[in-house]
Amino acid sequence: MTLQDRTCIVTGSSRGIGRGIAEELGRSGANVAVNYRSSEGDAYDVVERIEAEGGTAIAVQADVTDRDEVEAMRETISEAFGTTNVLVNNAGITVDKKFSEMTREDWDLVMEVNLGGVFNCTKAFFDDLKEADHGRLINISSVVGQQGNYGQANYATTKSGLFGFTRTIALELARYDTTANCVAPGFVQTDMLDKVPERVQQKILSRIPLERFAEIDDVAGIVRFLASHDSGYMTGQVLGVNGGMEW
Ligand SMILES: NC(=O)c1ccc[n+]([C@@H]2O[C@H](COP(=O)([O-])OP(=O)(O)OC[C@H]3O[C@@H](n4cnc5c(N)ncnc54)[C@H](OP(=O)(O)O)[C@@H]3O)[C@@H](O)[C@H]2O)c1
Repeated sequence: MTLQDRTCIVTGSSRGIGRGIAEELGRSGANVAVNYRSSEGDAYDVVERIEAEGGTAIAVQADVTDRDEVEAMRETISEAFGTTNVLVNNAGITVDKKFSEMTREDWDLVMEVNLGGVFNCTKAFFDDLKEADHGRLINISSVVGQQGNYGQANYATTKSGLFGFTRTIALELARYDTTANCVAPGFVQTDMLDKVPERVQQKILSRIPLERFAEIDDVAGIVRFLASHDSGYMTGQVLGVNGGMEW
């Protein structure tokens, strides 16, 4: 139980990678806040699964693009568990199109969720992270932020943006013994990958030395390590979890 007595919030944890992270942190003894935007039933399923394994969790609705909802979410978590030690900025979306067909709306929507949401949540939990015992900010980026990817100019920009954001916040939080790191997964078996055409998936697969897509647990284990005391001397880093892809 490496995360006993630690409070963790995982944005966008009703489904996919966020769900896997929330369940892993719960199994490790943390109090977990499961954030969702619209998948209420899925979020309560995650809470039930964590509780069934002896953990403690609550579901909290908030669209990360809405600052008022994010502030209200922080209040709810504070009332339930006190100071938050670990913020995992996981919520993210894709709106894939070749750049020639990408509209300004497609661009803005992805910026608003993937970077605006990170701003709102980090802002809301910043004081918690400073005050917390061994605070941890963990941003979920992507190998696409390192390599670029056809049809994902908007998404790749947001995921690269997290590198600069993480390194800067790491500097600003260091004096509080709080760390900030990025996890850059490769291609992970979730709804997001399911949207990629099969032909393109096969092409991606041929570039992965480990010859498989990542399982959600491959990412969740790394986040558990970052959330724990064991990662205390690591900050401002980007951890690639990509099956050995070059970038
Ligand atoms: N899948 C991959 O191959 C892959 C690879 C590298 C990095 N990533 C990154 O990993 C993260 C999770 O990806 P995923 O594949 O697990 O995605 P996913 O299966 O599509 O799940 C997305 C999650 O984000 C939530 N969400 C979306 N917009 C939100 C908003 N405005 N406010 C609050 N929550 C919101 C969704 O909640 P609702 O269901 O309530 O809408 C859902 O829980 C993303 O940041 C993504 O960029 C994914």
